[in-house]
Amino acid sequence: MKTIIINASPRKKWNTAEVLDAARKGAESVGSEVEYVNLYDLVFKGCRSCLICKRKDKTKGKCYWKDDLSPLIEKIFDSDALIIGSPIYFGQPTSEFRALVERLIFCIMSYDDGSSYYTGKVNVGIFYTMNAP
Ligand SMILES: Cc1cc2nc3c(=O)[nH]c(=O)nc-3n(C[C@H](O)[C@H](O)[C@H](O)COP(=O)(O)O)c2cc1C
Repeated sequence: MKTIIINASPRKKWNTAEVLDAARKGAESVGSEVEYVNLYDLVFKGCRSCLICKRKDKTKGKCYWKDDLSPLIEKIFDSDALIIGSPIYFGQPTSEFRALVERLIFCIMSYDDGSSYYTGKVNVGIFYTMNAP
């Protein structure tokens, strides 16, 4: 079993990381191989709406743009579990979290009927941390 854990906080050792460390221990305790990624170490952008992922050729269902996120996207679709943690900034997850989600979901979403080009299954868990009263 492969689990990818992504910290979408710029702070590598604070609240979100603490929650994700516990998630890592949990995954390891049931024998999962874990890859932990600090999203803010990667240089990438969100979806550019180029729509190359919608073409009916070998680019279908694949994000065309190559940057630090590309290998991570491949690994996520090849994993059994994905755990993402993000702080809440002004009522929303961080901008990097959003950019990741745009890239991850748009490329596998069919424009014909809204179905998914992805035929595998990845179990997803999301943790948010926040502290405003
Ligand atoms: C730019 C910014 C905006 C924030 N907005 C909110 C908010 O809307 N609501 C909230 O409860 N906490 C907010 N917070 C607090 C963080 O969500 C909270 O401290 C979080 O646990 C930080 O996670 P980290 O320690 O992993 O960076 C904000 C913090 C920052 C830096």
